[in-house]
Amino acid sequence: MKRELIVAIDGPSGAGKSTLSKLLSRTLGYVNIDTGAMYRSVALASQRCGVDLNDEAALGQLARSVDIEFVRQDASEKVLLNGEDVSEAIRTPDVSLLTSRVSACREVRQAMVDLQRSMGERGGVVLEGRDIGTVVFPAAEVKFFLGASASERGRRRYEELKVKGLEVDLEQTIAEVEARDAADTAREHAPLVQASDALVIDSTSMSIEDVLQLMVETASERRREAGLTVGVAGEAP
Ligand code: DC
Repeated sequence: MKRELIVAIDGPSGAGKSTLSKLLSRTLGYVNIDTGAMYRSVALASQRCGVDLNDEAALGQLARSVDIEFVRQDASEKVLLNGEDVSEAIRTPDVSLLTSRVSACREVRQAMVDLQRSMGERGGVVLEGRDIGTVVFPAAEVKFFLGASASERGRRRYEELKVKGLEVDLEQTIAEVEARDAADTAREHAPLVQASDALVIDSTSMSIEDVLQLMVETASERRREAGLTVGVAGEAP
């Protein structure tokens, strides 16, 4: 039986992956899997039970024992950790910092990759992350690598923080984005690299609507090639 596509969206922080994977999955009627939220959930669980971050085996065991689920409630998507809604709790600066450490642990990555594969193998999914098209699903039918210049990503982050009423400095925010890129690219396990067969989209001077349209067109084309004939919303007949 034909299955729907596996769509991978990789790229650095602040390139618009979350926004676009939500919009694209809705347009295609696919399930959206935010893999960053999965690493964040493991980090939160490790904070709560006080695991030693240098103990890779204990971190790996924790990652294999937690239950992580995505559910759509009303119009928004929630992340459940052992049944509890942690959508807000995983976004604090503390947890973000902890996540960069926890996600560098090989045992944790293996546990999450196994889980992501079991969530996505039946198709009809958009997975968003750093290593989807290279490690998790190297045979994904559609791969995007979404980027934007560090100064533009820093500027977007700065605007977001300002809207939240936080005191921020533009130059410092850009420097933080650059530092995170360097750490993501240099880490030993699953560093951020572009899959050679990914469609690279530079969103520096593109609107969200333009990027979405390009993604929908690309996915629709692949669906036709795969003989999936029932149309998707937002696609020309
Ligand atoms: O996309 P995000 O900011 O929610 O990601 C949180 C952290 O998890 C970030 O440090 C990168 C890491 N991450 C990863 O290593 N691999 C993924 N597939 C997704 C996120």
